[in-house]
Amino acid sequence: MTFLAAPTVTYSILYNFLFDLISIQYIYYSCSFVSQRAMELLSRAWAVFCYGTGITSALSIVLYLFPFMFYSIFGRNQNLRKRYDAEWAIVTGASSGIGKAVVKKLARQGINCCVVALNDHLMTNAMTEFHREFPLVEFRSIPVDLCCQPERYMGTIIEATKNLNISIVVNNAGYLVMSFFHRRSMEAHLKQIEVNQLAALRITWHFYQRLIEEKKKGCILFTSSAVCYLPAPFASMYGATKSFLTHFATSLAIEAESKGIDVTVVSPSFTHTNLYAKTPKFGVINALARIGWTPEDVAQVILDSAGRFIVRDCGAYALCTCILGRILDANAMSKLIVPFRDSMAPPGASSGK
Ligand SMILES: NC(=O)c1ccc[n+]([C@@H]2O[C@H](COP(=O)([O-])OP(=O)(O)OC[C@H]3O[C@@H](n4cnc5c(N)ncnc54)[C@H](OP(=O)(O)O)[C@@H]3O)[C@@H](O)[C@H]2O)c1
Repeated sequence: MTFLAAPTVTYSILYNFLFDLISIQYIYYSCSFVSQRAMELLSRAWAVFCYGTGITSALSIVLYLFPFMFYSIFGRNQNLRKRYDAEWAIVTGASSGIGKAVVKKLARQGINCCVVALNDHLMTNAMTEFHREFPLVEFRSIPVDLCCQPERYMGTIIEATKNLNISIVVNNAGYLVMSFFHRRSMEAHLKQIEVNQLAALRITWHFYQRLIEEKKKGCILFTSSAVCYLPAPFASMYGATKSFLTHFATSLAIEAESKGIDVTVVSPSFTHTNLYAKTPKFGVINALARIGWTPEDVAQVILDSAGRFIVRDCGAYALCTCILGRILDANAMSKLIVPFRDSMAPPGASSGK
């Protein structure tokens, strides 16, 4: 704590000292008609304001980073089977990437998993892999398309899980399309909202009700994204769905606490998965890929965060965007991004699911 507090407080004091000095000079020269006494009072008030805001922002950053660093060092490999007395989990988007890694980590703890994903070769391959690697754990495949006909996919999920004791829900399915907003049809936008956001909402509603009715403890986890903190030009729908998840989970967590249900949302930075398979490869994406995480590491953070964090950022990019979001308001942030807009535009991006 001290090694973090020391530089931040020093920064805050230095920063405010400079600010203080410049402002006092300015006030002094521009208001020479004001009496000496009034000037002194004014400069003292200004100094209190500057030190106050500086120390507050330094504290805010330290409070943000401390739990983060603590659990990264001392909180690895949390046993969810023990914590929630968990027999079964349900994971959406579990046929590849982060979701698949989450299933494997849960299986390693002896937790049986319902695997929700599209009915494609990825699902078939993932199921074969799960059975081969964990012969003593049960897996149930639930092949559904989460992009449309919610009554249908929810019906399938409810039917497939009705006799199972599910205490861990991982809302992870999602996809990214990088495109100009106007180049995609309204239908395509709505499909993305259904998969990334509404499916998570419907699934949460169902299993949350069940946990409450059965008076069981459990956890509901969400995979959001680092983009939830910043404007996301050319991925506006993706960014909006992720902001929804983060805000929804943060609010629900407070309600759910009294029921013994933990709600956690994790915002990963760039992760090496199929998410970018259909997006054009250009400057920003290539740069982020260089510091990208593996899906296994992100899955570990998701499971280690259950019940310990409500919101957890994962990776340097998420950390920086979150801190930037605390310092700059949306107007200032947008002004900062506008000059780089053209270099961020994906060349000819309009494809995707
Ligand atoms: N990779 C990153 O850099 C990154 C960063 C921040 C957040 N995230 C989030 O992490 C989550 C997992 O993504 P990932 O990176 O692991 O990518 P991924 O490998 O493409 O996994 C996405 C999963 O969602 C499933 N899915 C997509 N559309 C679906 C639909 N209509 N119905 C049912 N399932 C569907 C996919 O199935 P199919 O493979 O069969 O399509 C796949 O299992 C997403 O919510 C993503 O937004 C990823």
